[in-house]
Amino acid sequence: MTTAVAPSIDLADLAFWRRPPGERHEAFARLRQLEHPVFFEERRIPLLRSGKGFYALVRHADVTEASRNAKVFSSEPAVTSPEPPGWVKHVFGESMVNMDDPRHARLRRIVSRAFSPRMLGDLQGGIERAAARIVDDVVAHGPGDFVSQVAARLPIHVICDMMGIPDEARAKVHEHVDVSTAYTGVRPSLVRSVRMAGQNMLALLALQRLVIRLGRERAEDPRKDLVSALVTANVDGERLSWRELGSFFALLLVAGNETARNTMAHGVKLLTDNPAQRELLLSDFDAHIGGAIEEMVRYVSPIMQFRRTVTQDYDLRGLHLRPGDKVVLFYGAANRDETVFDEPDRFDITRKPNPHVGFGGPGPHFCLGANLARQEIRTMFRELYTRLPGLRAEGEPELLLSNFDNSVRSQRFAF
Ligand code: HEM
Repeated sequence: MTTAVAPSIDLADLAFWRRPPGERHEAFARLRQLEHPVFFEERRIPLLRSGKGFYALVRHADVTEASRNAKVFSSEPAVTSPEPPGWVKHVFGESMVNMDDPRHARLRRIVSRAFSPRMLGDLQGGIERAAARIVDDVVAHGPGDFVSQVAARLPIHVICDMMGIPDEARAKVHEHVDVSTAYTGVRPSLVRSVRMAGQNMLALLALQRLVIRLGRERAEDPRKDLVSALVTANVDGERLSWRELGSFFALLLVAGNETARNTMAHGVKLLTDNPAQRELLLSDFDAHIGGAIEEMVRYVSPIMQFRRTVTQDYDLRGLHLRPGDKVVLFYGAANRDETVFDEPDRFDITRKPNPHVGFGGPGPHFCLGANLARQEIRTMFRELYTRLPGLRAEGEPELLLSNFDNSVRSQRFAF
């Protein structure tokens, strides 16, 4: 149900996410004009979703206010939509993205070691070699699908490198990740939804088991990799439990894989559709790639939404929220807010400032992997456009139906 002001828009209905992106942006623009955030009712599906309904935050100011104010806008019990039922965390353990401080702060403190400038510096050589191999294969194989030949290959490779996953286990990791990312929470039929959710859970459990086994080995015989660092105590005596290690690996694969790959796939299409921007980027790659990546993340908003639960009475732009109310932060809508971005529908790699919320709003959950994502995209695009300057997307991307990931299933390309 929506208010009478925007009766044709229902963000809780799968049909909305089937509409072409341009139409969705028009709908969000209409919602941004309304005086208050609008409430959307959700259907309850037994075993799969709890369905309480939510207020949609679509203005940049509202998304940043909720992100900043994590005491009122809690990430517990979960930030995904539809909200998973309570039993899920008993099976999988909990992920830091679904926690509040102090539990969240403790985990973030431990795992942030993986994302320090020194650790990211150590990864650079591996990222360069992987990007070069991917382009070697593209040259050998010829044009085809940009997602499977390029975008899908790098992020998962980097996460495995980071964790120190041995080569022989990587094929299994790829297989489980493919299954676990095929389910996006929105599926046409209930039966299909339940079947895919089941497969997704088994794949996630297998990934967790794999890394826990590795963690036990590394605890006995530590190496220089992240798993060793996470299972052996740091200076403050902090380390991850086995269950936390499993949940963290699953989170990295879910958070760090699709997002970076979708940014690259949409990015190639954006640079093809905006030849002047492409020319500008190639005229001085180092000067413009930073701005280009931020603009891709703003324009694409690879994660379209995250949810929060209100913990206390609070007034948000005249709307009175009560404990237990849900709000959903629509990053894609905030990133096109005309009061913050001039001509928000224009792709402009020189946009400055560019205070997008594609990596989340300012607050404790701001994307831990933002710098790693930037590093991957920069390295991949440098390799691609240096060796294949004629690289271009062909035709339209095949998008995956999702209310969460702005996901590209395939994108033809040529060079
Ligand atoms: C373009 C690529 C990416 C985008 C757009 C993106 C987006 C986001 C967003 C919007 C959040 C905020 C969650 C919230 O507020 O509840 C987030 C959190 C997170 N991201 Fe990313 N992400 C990207 C790449 C990555 C990569 C490469 C990794 C790691 C390999 C990663 C790891 C994480 C983690 C661990 C969190 C949870 C942080 C916390 O709860 O404290 N992300 N990301």
